[in-house]
Amino acid sequence: MTERRSRPAHRNAPRKQPVGAPDPRMLALKTLQELRGGEVTLDELLSKHGYGLPSLDRNFLRQLLGTTLRHLGEIDAVLAPRYQPPQDRVAARLTNILRLGVAQLFFMDTSDYGAVDSTVNLARDAGLHKYTKLINAVLRGLQRDGFEWPEGVEDWQLNIPAWLRGSWKKAYGAEISQAIAEASLGHAMLDLSIKDRTTSADWAEKMDGLVLPTGSVRLESGRRIRDLPGYRDGDWWVQDAAAAIPATLFSAYQGKTIYDLCAAPGGKTMQLASLGASAIAVDKSEGRLKRVFENLERVSLGAAVVTGDATDLAPDTPRADAVLLDAPCSATGTIRRHPDILLRQNDKLMKSLLPIQTKLLNQADKLLNVGGELIYCTCSLQPEEGEHQIKSFLADHPNYERKPITATELGGWDEAINEAGELRVLPIHMQDFGGMDGFFCARLVKKS
Ligand SMILES: C[S@@+](CC[C@H](N)C(=O)[O-])C[C@H]1O[C@@H](n2cnc3c(N)ncnc32)[C@H](O)[C@@H]1O
Repeated sequence: MTERRSRPAHRNAPRKQPVGAPDPRMLALKTLQELRGGEVTLDELLSKHGYGLPSLDRNFLRQLLGTTLRHLGEIDAVLAPRYQPPQDRVAARLTNILRLGVAQLFFMDTSDYGAVDSTVNLARDAGLHKYTKLINAVLRGLQRDGFEWPEGVEDWQLNIPAWLRGSWKKAYGAEISQAIAEASLGHAMLDLSIKDRTTSADWAEKMDGLVLPTGSVRLESGRRIRDLPGYRDGDWWVQDAAAAIPATLFSAYQGKTIYDLCAAPGGKTMQLASLGASAIAVDKSEGRLKRVFENLERVSLGAAVVTGDATDLAPDTPRADAVLLDAPCSATGTIRRHPDILLRQNDKLMKSLLPIQTKLLNQADKLLNVGGELIYCTCSLQPEEGEHQIKSFLADHPNYERKPITATELGGWDEAINEAGELRVLPIHMQDFGGMDGFFCARLVKKS
């Protein structure tokens, strides 16, 4: 038995490019090529390549890349019976051109004619004249015949890479890992953190949203952020609801000093400052720290900002009452917002981050006063980057103990609190409200 797919029923007319305007399909190809390096993120490339594009083209670029990345496994499976990459230095480019063509043909509203014709033109513009016939034949064949694959293979099994499926199954079991995979391929809502949390309900009402139990205001996605009330006055900032939880655990730290390690672009720094704490934001990326300055200025909040590698701070760096460490991680909890993770991340890369997280935790200890609290968090679903890091830190530092996170601190929401009192948020949590990013957070106290 096989499953057979055909194109969606109704399509838009092909998009014509004004003479001289950059072609969003060419920019999409460039972006896919650059993503293969693994270092630069889709968001960074979109701001580089999408800069100056008319908004319709910018939206199309974003949509084309998002669709291609979310359906990449399916797209490659569709192509496999009809296309063998040539033994040629252009193979990667050619494959990416075909991927963009299949994305438009089967997963977007582009007309068949528009999808095939624009993909052939893209190959020509990219200098791959020699392959235009091949592209035409592959796409026309798919348009005519549809595609099929064996029954029992589901979309998520193709679109989520094997290393992730395997690791989630091991950590969470077959049923939950499938649900995580399916949720990760969906779209995220738009979450805001309100500067004055006591006014969250008013802002939610003004923007037709709702207040989540954890305090974030949730809106439907797709709203133009700069046009929303309060943006210009700096009354709120965009921040995923799960990522907003750790800083709220410092609500009793008014006037106290808190290191925000790995702080850029500053979502948690703004929260700490808005709670009245004296935040010291540390990040090693000068470029990303610019965003911290811009963000603090927009919302009229203050914090000390330090450029530096947090694993290598001077021995005489003063200690603080608390440390919030939002460690660099594989970010596998954020695939809904960043589908490029499916292409960029892998097991080896994720494992290469583990010693850095360990070093950062050890440095956090050196910066913390006795009696102070250390909050460690990552936006990863991988236990190695969360639960395992905390377990080995506690084994190496008997002067620390967990201070369990309680449902009371989360507005009564207890779905994500594990037996150890840590927060293990999954994309399937708060499902009735549209889900959450995957996230881990543990709170430790330095006893001596
Ligand atoms: C997950 S992001 C932080 C997000 C941020 N905490 C927020 O809430 O907006 C990780 C950050 O860690 C920074 N980083 C990575 N390694 C670092 C290191 N050794 N020292 C300082 N910052 C580091 C990166 O530049 C990046 O900005």
